[in-house]
Amino acid sequence: MEKTEIMGLISAAVAVRKNSYAPYSAFYVGAALMAEDGTVFTGTNCENASYPAGHCAERAAFAAAVSAGKRRFRAIAVAGGKEDIPDGYCMPCGICRQMMSELCSGDFIIILAKGKSEYKLYTLDEMLPLQFTL
Ligand code: THU
Repeated sequence: MEKTEIMGLISAAVAVRKNSYAPYSAFYVGAALMAEDGTVFTGTNCENASYPAGHCAERAAFAAAVSAGKRRFRAIAVAGGKEDIPDGYCMPCGICRQMMSELCSGDFIIILAKGKSEYKLYTLDEMLPLQFTL
């Protein structure tokens, strides 16, 4: 991926994070997902008084993309934390990694963003080896 694409996805994740609904954890997450054709879909976590009904930002972005007919993806950027500018990396949870593995190949890129310019890159194979499939 080109650096400009990485920075664009990080900006989108950081921007949408402002819409996160997280009154219970106060942990605010934004995600920006790039489909194979370059289209970007965003999502935030959305919590609920019935805690298990809440969902993560990554899965919200995938739901938006799949709803728009996308089935192939290149990368996702994730920015999350309790602070206005996160001082740590938000690691995608196990359920989100499993969802990625259904829709993405092993070389799918996961960008973890801290602030607007610090980031780390992983592949899905690194994040979820030995994936479960039916
Ligand atoms: N969360 C995400 O949105 N993505 C992750 O990968 C990890 C956790 C959200 C879920 C919940 O609303 C809050 O962060 C605290 O767990």
